[in-house]
Amino acid sequence: MHEPAIARLRAQDPDIAGLVEAEARRQFEKLRLIASENYVSPAVLEATGSVLTNKYSEGYAGRRYYEGQQNIDPIELLAVDRAKQVFGVEHANVQSYSGSPANLAVYLAFLEPGDTVMGMSLPMGGHLTHGWSVSATGRWFRPVRYGVREDTGRIDMDQVRDLARAERPKLIWCGGTAVPRTIDFPAFAEIAREVGAVLAADIAHIAGLIAGGAHPSPVGCADVITTTTHKTLRGPRGAMIMSTAEHAKAVDKAVFPGLQGGPHNHTTAAIAVALGEAARPEFAEYARRVVANAKALAAALAERGFDLVSGGTDNHLILIDLTGKGVPGKPAAQALDRAGIELNYNTVPFDPRTPFDPSGLRLGTAAITTRGLTEEAMPQIAAWIDEVVQATAKEDEAVLARVAGEVRELMAGYPMPGWAPAP
Ligand SMILES: Cc1ncc(COP(=O)(O)O)c(C=O)c1O
Repeated sequence: MHEPAIARLRAQDPDIAGLVEAEARRQFEKLRLIASENYVSPAVLEATGSVLTNKYSEGYAGRRYYEGQQNIDPIELLAVDRAKQVFGVEHANVQSYSGSPANLAVYLAFLEPGDTVMGMSLPMGGHLTHGWSVSATGRWFRPVRYGVREDTGRIDMDQVRDLARAERPKLIWCGGTAVPRTIDFPAFAEIAREVGAVLAADIAHIAGLIAGGAHPSPVGCADVITTTTHKTLRGPRGAMIMSTAEHAKAVDKAVFPGLQGGPHNHTTAAIAVALGEAARPEFAEYARRVVANAKALAAALAERGFDLVSGGTDNHLILIDLTGKGVPGKPAAQALDRAGIELNYNTVPFDPRTPFDPSGLRLGTAAITTRGLTEEAMPQIAAWIDEVVQATAKEDEAVLARVAGEVRELMAGYPMPGWAPAP
């Protein structure tokens, strides 16, 4: 039973409705440990599925290129105000279609083609859009890349400083896609100021933790902050760019008309709803529990001999180096999926294997915490992961089928926002 209901979809297009229901059941039955995913509330789903999708609104509130914005302007202003309030920023743009276009807008706002950008290398935990070679950001700009220390698995701030001094980047990115430790925003700010670079903090993964007070905020350190809205922040697929008042005009101009046409108003409304939820005290409790679950899961995995990059986690994310287990990341992730445990294979720092067949696994606790799982469940999850990784090495499919059944049984006890099995 989908909530909001999809009865008309079922009547008109059973093919699509059937697949939506099947996906909902899959999300209900599985242990979803993909670090970038979550479950949004039915209110966010309703806003996303609303008639706001019918409306074109190029421009910004009070300065649109189409008529009929009587309701869209207040919706966008509410989203902007809530973003400013939740994150304590001077300016917020809520129109970027997703995280990658938001990051591209930062380049357009501050750089010219060929300028130097410094970001964390992709295999070290950075994102494609921080100047990786296959991304437009690595092709149209001159990327220089920092990484983590081999002995600690933590960002090498000495390397960041030395590289910044030598290469004089115009833009420095901090934040990433596989970074299990707290980002030292003040240290990045000091380096950026020394070399005269714009500091951009990409908080896509940790935005919900920052909103809930479970991770330090980059506000006051970074000139510009980008985030997706759909990971720990628990909103719809979308993004925001936040900045000091000084950069407001450059950011807005880069998003529209620099990169985009009409904003997705249904998404803007859903972002506003999610930000309303993030402003509540329960969300701070949620953020605290996400981190507590990740720490408990990391400890249980370490106890079972898993090699964790940096030795553990400060946030929602855990990166496992499977080298010592004798199984590469990809077959392990595929076997875990068959066993009802969904995560992704990932490179680990200094990975000798390729990104398409790497040594690691990445997992996170944002989604399972939304389902209501607590620290007590984490040793069992670590035990299942251990069993399945061992079974992968032995190609023992029976173990995977048994674990899938046990996972299904566990998850049946935790309600899922947006869907419930028929009574
Ligand atoms: C740190 C970071 N930045 C940007 C993005 C890009 O977001 P999107 O997939 O919405 O383009 C991601 C996505 O995973 C991310 O992890």
